[in-house]
Formats: sequence, C-alpha cells, structure tokens
Amino acid sequence: MEFFLEAYLTKFVKETALILPAFDAKFDPEIRPADERFGDFQANGLLAYLGKKKENPRLWAQRLADLFAARDRLFDVSVAGPGFLNFSLKDTTLMQWLCKFHTASSYQGAYESIFSNRTVVIDYSSPNTAKRMHVGHLRSMVIGEALQRLIRFGGGHVIRDNHIGDWGTQFGILLMQIKASSYAFKENPEATIEALEHLYQVGVVKTKEEAAALDRARQELVKLQQGDAENVTIWERINRLSYQSFDRIYQRMNVAFDHVLGESFYRDKVEDVYGELKKYHLAVVDQGALVVFHAEHPRFSKQAFLVRKSDGASNYASTDLATIKYRVKEFHADDIVYVTDCRQCDHFEQLFLTAKKWFQAANYALPNLYHVYFGTILDAQGKAIKTREGKPIQLQALLNEAVERAYDLIRAKSPELSEVEKRKVAEVVGLGAIKYADLLQERTGNYRFEWDKMINFDGNTAPYLLYAIARIHAIFRKLNLMVYDLKFSTLDNVQAFSTATERALAKKLIAFPSALNLALKELKPHWLCHYLFDLAGTFSAFYNADRVAIEDVCLQQIRLLLCGATLSTLETGLHLLGLETLERM
Ligand code: ARG
Repeated sequence: MEFFLEAYLTKFVKETALILPAFDAKFDPEIRPADERFGDFQANGLLAYLGKKKENPRLWAQRLADLFAARDRLFDVSVAGPGFLNFSLKDTTLMQWLCKFHTASSYQGAYESIFSNRTVVIDYSSPNTAKRMHVGHLRSMVIGEALQRLIRFGGGHVIRDNHIGDWGTQFGILLMQIKASSYAFKENPEATIEALEHLYQVGVVKTKEEAAALDRARQELVKLQQGDAENVTIWERINRLSYQSFDRIYQRMNVAFDHVLGESFYRDKVEDVYGELKKYHLAVVDQGALVVFHAEHPRFSKQAFLVRKSDGASNYASTDLATIKYRVKEFHADDIVYVTDCRQCDHFEQLFLTAKKWFQAANYALPNLYHVYFGTILDAQGKAIKTREGKPIQLQALLNEAVERAYDLIRAKSPELSEVEKRKVAEVVGLGAIKYADLLQERTGNYRFEWDKMINFDGNTAPYLLYAIARIHAIFRKLNLMVYDLKFSTLDNVQAFSTATERALAKKLIAFPSALNLALKELKPHWLCHYLFDLAGTFSAFYNADRVAIEDVCLQQIRLLLCGATLSTLETGLHLLGLETLERM
C-alpha cells in the first residue's frame, strides 16, 4: 500500500495505457482529485491526447478502464462523458491505507516529492546585523522554516544556511559613530544591541548633515575591508551581539540553522567571480563598475546587474554569485531556495540569469534556483505595519504581545488549568497563531495582521487546530487508551465503513499527501493550512455523528483508528508548519 495514492494511480494508469496500442510514453493521464459526486480521482488527460492522435477517445477510454479494472484492486473505475475516467477508492483500500498510515512515524520516509534524495540548500531569515529583528523579518523566518521542514519530509537532504548581512555599508557609519561617541562601546562588556541601534541612527543623521562625517564613515569602511585590526575587532563584536539577539528569537520560534555563512564569508571569494564573469564575456566595465546586461531580457538589457562597484568594493550581487558557486562546490547543492520579500524579485531574477550563463560557460553543474518571495505585512487598515511613532515593530515585542493575548484567550476558555499550564499553553498558542496566520496567506500577496482574527478559536486559526488536537487527546484519555500505542492491524479485513461520515473522514485522511504535494510543488505552505482546516472540520462532522464510546468492539476500533489517524495528521501537519502542539489546553 502506497502513501501517496494519487501518485500511485498516475503511475499505474500510465503503465496500463502503455499496454494498449493507442498510447505511447508521452501520455500523461493527468490524475486530479475529482468532484465528489463522481468519484475520488479523475483522469483528464485522455481527451486531448487521443484527439491529437485522431483516435476515438470514448473507445480507448473504455478499453483502458477495462484493462485497468482487470489489473487493479484498489479502485473502482468508470468512463464518463466523451472520454474521462473516474476512479473511486474502495472501502477496503481506505481501510488498508489507514491501518498502515495512522501514526507520525508511519509517514516517515513514505512520502516522495520532487525533492527526494536531492541536496537542497535553503537560505532564509538572513537578517542584516547591527540591529534587532523587527516585524519585517518575520515572514522569511516563518515561511523558510515551514518549507525546510516540508522539503525534509519530502525526502530532501536539507542544508539550512543563514546568509546574514554582516558586510554592508552600515559598518562604516557604525564604526565612525562608535569612535566619535562618548558611549564606550569598545570597553563596555555590557554593551547592548539597543545601544548599537541608537549609535547607528545618530550616525546616519550625522552623515546626512556633515560631509566630513560621511567621509570618515567611508574611510572606516575601507579600513575594515582592508583588515584593520581595531575595526575588525569592533565589527566582530557587533556581529556577535547581533547574532545573540537573533538567536533569542530563533530559540523562541524553534528555528535553527546548519550554517551561518554571511556576506562577509564570501569577501575573499568575489575576485574569482569577477575573473570568471570577465573571462566568459558576461560582465563589462561600465564607468569603472563591473556590470552584467541580459540582452534577451526586456528590462535587464538596459537595467544593469551591478557586481562590483566603481570604487572596487563588492556588493550584494557579487557575494550572492560567489555564494551559489560555494554551495554547489562545497555542499553539492542540487537545489537552492531563497526566501525573501518581493522587493528583491529583480535582484534574484538577474542573479539567476547571470548564474545560469556563467555556469553553462564554465561547465559547472547548475542547481535549480528558486526565489520564494512574499508580500508585505499590513496593519488592519491596510497600511505597512508600524508602531504608533512610525517605527518598525520589534519582533520580540510582537511575540510577547501574541503570548499575552493568547493568555487572555486561554484564561477565558480553560479556567481550570493551573497557572503554569496556562502560561505554557499561551506560549504555544500565541507563537503558533503568529506563524499560522502568516502561512495561511498565499505567500505572494500582502497580508493584514489582525490580532482578533488570528488569536481566536473560530475560523482557520492555530487556536482552532490546536484545540482540535487537544480534543482528540481527551477522547483517548477518557477511554483510558494510550493513543500512540494503539494497534489496528486486525482491521485489515474489515470490508466497509458503516456511515458516510466515517468514509468522508477516511477520504480526507488519504488526501494528506496530495496537500503536501501541492505545497511542495509551488513551495506554498498555505495549501497545507487549508487541508488541515478542512480535515479538522470533517473530523468534527464525524465526531458529532458517530459515537466512539460504544459497546461494539469492531466498530469502536474503526472509529478509534479514524481518531488516531486524524490526530497524527493534524500533529504532523502543524509540526511541518513549524508549530508546537499540545495534549491538553
Ligand atoms: N540580508 C538580506 C536582507 O535583509 C537577505 C539575504 C537573502 N539571501 C541572499 N542570499 N541574498 O534583505
């Protein structure tokens, strides 16, 4: 029995078709979930394919259906319309599938995706150092974390790389201001990231107002780039301090990386990039700068991709080019996934075009490059979200507020919990709500950040799903059963479900891999959110209609199996999205 029945069906229908003379290897049956009235899946691919070959679709659809029925035992098949095939899952198939796949561990390694056995580098979060993370840093972290978990679940060898911005022009200003200020940053072992942010802001104003200050900032940057010992020491300290503040958020959000190779790591690797781009005539010198044009592109034929500034300094583009080469040579990346907001869409398009040409010319293996972009977070009025003073909202403050609001919700709903439990539940619910509300949006659009919608037991929210999970745990507790120890193999020979609600739930459960497939194909976690919400609703309908505390042992086993499988799917699904789950709340 296979986990992903849709993929199994696709393979099997194609294999069957190839036995018949009208079909060849180019035939794709295009198996899709079907309108429920007609079946569970349908094959849409016959009509166009046979039409093109001037064959009778209805005739061959019938022959294919007959041959399929003779070879397969999992589906009922019928011909519909001018040449569609409908497939319905037999109850025995659903039952067998559930017996095999109803625990989190049974899913392990069962799901094959487009990333199976590939080395996938995922570049996410990647904030710039010298300031704390604010609300603008939320989405890359949340979406990137969900995707890395999904890709791993889909069989990919994932390498998480945090490409922090630790080599930018901000350091010139900071070094200048640190040296000018009476605040003894260098000597103060307790210097904080907040103090650094303040120094930076003062420095920015100063460089705008005084030409001399701007000049000093430039000189400090050059000194840093040339390896001046004092500046390098300060710079390292700034980065350490910054990373500690990032890490407090990562720990709270349950995010971790395999590597933190920031822009500075590539500073001695950019010469090689300049050399190769020139060697292969991909880059030209334009007013002292090194730039790449893409003649075939409507915009990038004129809009240059700047890879070395006219003063000789490297930039975001040069380090990103060096980074791709490094990831291919050192990590053997088959795929590289970048998670940033859409304002960087042009950068990545130019980067990918340039890398493609460069790797082709140099005969390097070119990985698949994916730019996973997302929109902006807006406030309830639809404007970019800010504090009342117009400043960016600090991420740590945002998380605190989420947890406080979740605490109020929990106190009202479950007053019987102890204070310690309420606090623990509030942390999981509050952080979960923030993550889930973000992932629920199709990532390419902007989304409105609305507390009342996300911290709510009604609607497609984390509290709703977490509560559904806790409720299923309670069912098992009441029956004195250990949910994770249940054995259901005896159900293998049960022939049919006894109610429509049981069957509807079973069908929803087997659709889990289809939802994962959608999410991975488009690198869009919202598909999984929608599936989990549907599943929780289908479960409610089942649980309201079909009692579990009953005498009939066999029937009870089937219903417990459905409860257990729903629980595992909801828990696994939320864990894949990066949320924690609870057994009671
Ligand atoms: N540091 C960048 C920023 O804050 C994001 C880096 C994304 N990754 C990359 N390889 N360019 O916008």
